[in-house]
Amino acid sequence: MWERILVDGRAGLLMTEGLRMTRTNPVTLPPEMLRHPSMVSLPDRCLRPAETAALVAGLAADIAVWASLVRHDPVNRWHTRLLWTPFAEVYLLGWTADQDTRMHDHGGSVGAFAVTEGRLIEERGRARSAVIDRCEHLTGSVVPFDARHVHNLGNAGPDPATSIHAYSPPLPFMRFYEPDAQGRLHATHRRPVDGPEPDDSVAPLPLLAGTGQQGAHR
Ligand SMILES: [Fe+2]
Repeated sequence: MWERILVDGRAGLLMTEGLRMTRTNPVTLPPEMLRHPSMVSLPDRCLRPAETAALVAGLAADIAVWASLVRHDPVNRWHTRLLWTPFAEVYLLGWTADQDTRMHDHGGSVGAFAVTEGRLIEERGRARSAVIDRCEHLTGSVVPFDARHVHNLGNAGPDPATSIHAYSPPLPFMRFYEPDAQGRLHATHRRPVDGPEPDDSVAPLPLLAGTGQQGAHR
């Protein structure tokens, strides 16, 4: 049913019956995950936030298929990709105390996350706004977000946390934000991503002209 392929030079899997593929390490993913109804029933188009919420909720409810994959790394926040298609991607994340993402957006993608263990603290805002809402998401929470969502998500501890995240389309990049003197959030740079983490090993990318991002500097 599954065969190994290369997608963009990466090892991946091709689901030959459904043309669904993932770019994550094929060794780590149990077949039950790849055949999960939440995965194989996805439409061949980009998802709405509520659909990404249903996807992560469906996976979160089936602990047996992903629990053995979970890791918590106090040095580098751990994640593994569970699914990649041209329209959506899904990740499993492990958080130790005090790990957070920094204030960012999702490059225009929508998405959702489900907290499956512990609790996550979210500071959520909007570009050019000084309003920051602080939310606590306990185990069982499912949180959809739109394409304009800006947030810092983290584990305030003391216990580890685990979550499942979906993005649609797959994250093209992440923009990172800093407050100005009035506390309003402004995008400062983009970073390429290969997962829900920015690649800090490469130079940040400039914001794109003509997309409204330059206005975020003001
Ligand atoms: Fe995020």
